[in-house]
Amino acid sequence: MSFDSHLVLIGPMGAGKSTIGRFLSEQLPYPYTDLDKVIEDRAGASIPWIFDIEGEEGFRERETSALKSILGSDPQIIATGGGCILKPENRELIRKQGVVVYLVTSIEQQLERTAKDKNRPLLQSENPEQVLTDLAKIRNPLYCEAAEIKVDTNSKPPKLVAQEILKLLHERNDENTSC
Ligand code: S3P
Repeated sequence: MSFDSHLVLIGPMGAGKSTIGRFLSEQLPYPYTDLDKVIEDRAGASIPWIFDIEGEEGFRERETSALKSILGSDPQIIATGGGCILKPENRELIRKQGVVVYLVTSIEQQLERTAKDKNRPLLQSENPEQVLTDLAKIRNPLYCEAAEIKVDTNSKPPKLVAQEILKLLHERNDENTSC
């Protein structure tokens, strides 16, 4: 199977975007890229540091700039950060230049998968459940708006989710090539 565009994974923190992205990259002839890692490499600093010094606004600017640079290169499998879909510009960019897959994840699963995490500034709160619930209200419609494919990740190992995505991509490919 081949695409002429990127495969972009979107979804909230704890959706498993990075792990699933790596599994997909083992099955497809495309490299895996983690948008957060590119932001950190370009800044020479960690995400918590960027949030501390530049605030969320500074981080979002760096996020858009890194996203544009990745989308401008050869097709790859891109794991985005959970807030990447906040800017209309980003949603338009990924939709135009990629097959966008939304990893649907419940708050319960997010809490389980991000417990004790120190690298997500937005979750360094007394009440991460409330934070995730508030974020989901704003962001879930935006994930839906940006995505072409939706996959439920709840109570599923990442490998299984990756297999489901591969199946859906094959079906999509077949539809595009049939007369
Ligand atoms: C964020 C999610 C993080 C990272 C940053 C902000 C968000 O990525 O980009 O901490 O706004 O939801 P993950 O979704 O990979 O945790």
